[in-house]
Parts: sequence; structure tokens; C-alpha cells
Amino acid sequence: MRPSARTWRCDPAPAEVRGFHTAQPDYSPTRLAEFPPLAAELAIGRVFVKDESCRLGLPAFKALGASWAVHRTLAERAASGQEPGPVTLVTATDGNHGRAVARMARLLGQHAHVFVPHGVHPQAVAAIVAEQAKVTEVSGPYDDAVRLAAEAAAAPDAVLVQDTAWSGYEQIPAWIVEGYSTLCAEIDEQLAAQGVVEGPDLVAIPVGVGSLAQAVVTHYRSRPSRRAPALLSVEPEAAACVLESLTLGEPVSVTTADTTMAGLNCGTPSSIAWPYLHGGLDAAVAIPDADSARAAGDLAALGVSSGPCGAAALAGLRMVLTGVGGDERRAALGLDATSTVVLLSTEGAAANPHSTAGH
Ligand SMILES: Cc1ncc(COP(=O)(O)O)c(C=O)c1O
Repeated sequence: MRPSARTWRCDPAPAEVRGFHTAQPDYSPTRLAEFPPLAAELAIGRVFVKDESCRLGLPAFKALGASWAVHRTLAERAASGQEPGPVTLVTATDGNHGRAVARMARLLGQHAHVFVPHGVHPQAVAAIVAEQAKVTEVSGPYDDAVRLAAEAAAAPDAVLVQDTAWSGYEQIPAWIVEGYSTLCAEIDEQLAAQGVVEGPDLVAIPVGVGSLAQAVVTHYRSRPSRRAPALLSVEPEAAACVLESLTLGEPVSVTTADTTMAGLNCGTPSSIAWPYLHGGLDAAVAIPDADSARAAGDLAALGVSSGPCGAAALAGLRMVLTGVGGDERRAALGLDATSTVVLLSTEGAAANPHSTAGH
């Protein structure tokens, strides 16, 4: 628990991102659905689920970041007078991000080369191949795939489009984070249409390297005139690098193990996300796979297609608000029977068919 997080401030994302997404042929806002049974279960006023099971034609939120980052990358290359011929967009992924990069490459007449770590489900690989990308399967974990992708991107006319940053590689990950801002802008409008003009009291965010959480922190900590919600990070127990880093007060890598929450299976926080996570997150929790599976089943019964990563938001909130110390944690987060909570269900059930590998 980090009580100072709600007064932490940063600059907003650029306003033009929303207009870019709105102009995309497949764009429409994903739904924000209210579920009174979840509110009753958790003794909260209202619970909304942001359902990212169909985003720009793909079953996860990641295309928001990939589309804006690829657009900015190609625009910069054109502006700097580089050869106009096709480039190869290179990335590493466990499925969602790589598929989104491959889709963008295909739509824009570029090439894509996607590195997938050990353990990625064949269906996820097939979905990337179907976007006409070259796929290289790596025998090691996600971090190995990222390293090999970065090496491959050193070739002429290749560019790395990775959704995590490290020292010396920051610009494109920052554009990816900017791309995610559209998701938060939609929530504002959708909550206002439901009478929640001040915004939510808590947002629960599934976290891998923390790029999505960086975008959510940026959104809610850059508008001093509005209510500042509590922001909750949720990770798998098998890969809780943000929880560990917040506990230690500095970014650290953890050794990861298998988890069904494949997109969250990351051992190192993104370097550019860390200041935002450290400053602006109120709380962090780690959950076992079984909790996420139960939450996915409960969401399915309510009509939401939610994969293991997407359902982590509900599972994490349950863990925080119930059990020993639950009342104290509820009070520390400022929640009561009138509060409004938003759960980010970041992928549909189809996005990650039982892979255990990487990001
Ligand atoms: C479905 C899903 N949810 C959440 C995340 C977490 O995003 P981040 O790694 O930016 O924390 C990912 C990352 O790949 C993902 O695929």
C-alpha cells in the first residue's frame, strides 16, 4: 500500500493519439459493462469491466500501442529522409503484441519478424503466421526472445518495435505506452455516460512489464482537477517483478516460473514505466493461477470473454478486499459501498490458449 500515490503527478499523453485510433478502419470503443453481482459480492457501489476481447479486430488491447508506435516509427523514418522501401518490424512476444505488430506490418505493406519464446501455444504462433510474419521460435524464455529480436533488428531496414524499455531503448516503447491512452480516454466517456462524471475510485490493472500500468498512471495522475482513483497492479505469483520492485523501492528482476497468465509472465519492469509505477500506483498484489481461472469462469458466466491475464484484474481485487486484513486494505484504498471500480479485462479467452511462456 502506497498512500502518497494519489497525489503524485505527471504530464498527460499527447492528445492526438485518440484521433489517430478513431481514424483506423477497425476502430470502435470496446465496451465498458456494469456488473451489479460483482458489486454486491465485493460490497462496492458499482463495478465496471473494460472488455478488450475485441480491439481493432484482435483479441487483446495490445493493438492500441502497436498501431500508434508503428505509425510514429514510419513517420519519423519518412521525415528523416530514409529509403522509402519496406522495413521489417521486429519484436518478441508470447502472442498478443507480436500479432498486433504483424497485423500492422501487413496492413501497411511492411514486413514483420516475430520472436516467440519457448512454451507459446501453437495456435498463438499460427495467428502470427496468418498475418504473413516470419516467426522464429526460441528455445528459452521471454527475455531471451527479446534479446534475439533486438539483435535481429540491427539489420539494415529493420526496426525493433518492443513493448518494454531498457536503457538506450526508450522511444518506441514510449510510443506504445502513449497508444494505450485511448483505452483510458474511452473509460472517461463511458463512465460519464453512466453518470460517473468524476471518474472511478479504483482501477485494477493486469501487469507484466508495466507499460499498460504506466499508461493508466499517466492518465489518472495528469488531471489534478478530477478525482484521483486508487490504482492497483495485479501480477501472477510466478512473475511479480513490479510487486517485488515496489517492496524494495528499486526496479529488480525476478526469476519467473510457468503461469497460465502468459502475457504477464515478465521478470523485469520496463525502465521507462518504473518511475510511474513507483510514484503513481497505490497498491500491488500477486495472485495464483487458480484465482485467475476462477475469475475467468465467473466473468464468462456474466457474458465477458476474458483470458487468464484479463481476469487477473478481478482476481486481484478479490484478494485485496477479502480475507485477513481485507477491511483495512479497503479503507486504505478509500473504498466503501458507494465506490466505483473499473477492472481492465485486457484480453479475450481466445487470445492466449494456455501458453506459459512470456509477454
Ligand atoms: C492480455 C495482456 N494483459 C496485460 C498485459 C500487461 O501489459 P504490460 O506488459 O504492459 O504490463 C499484457 C502484456 O503482454 C497482455 O498481453
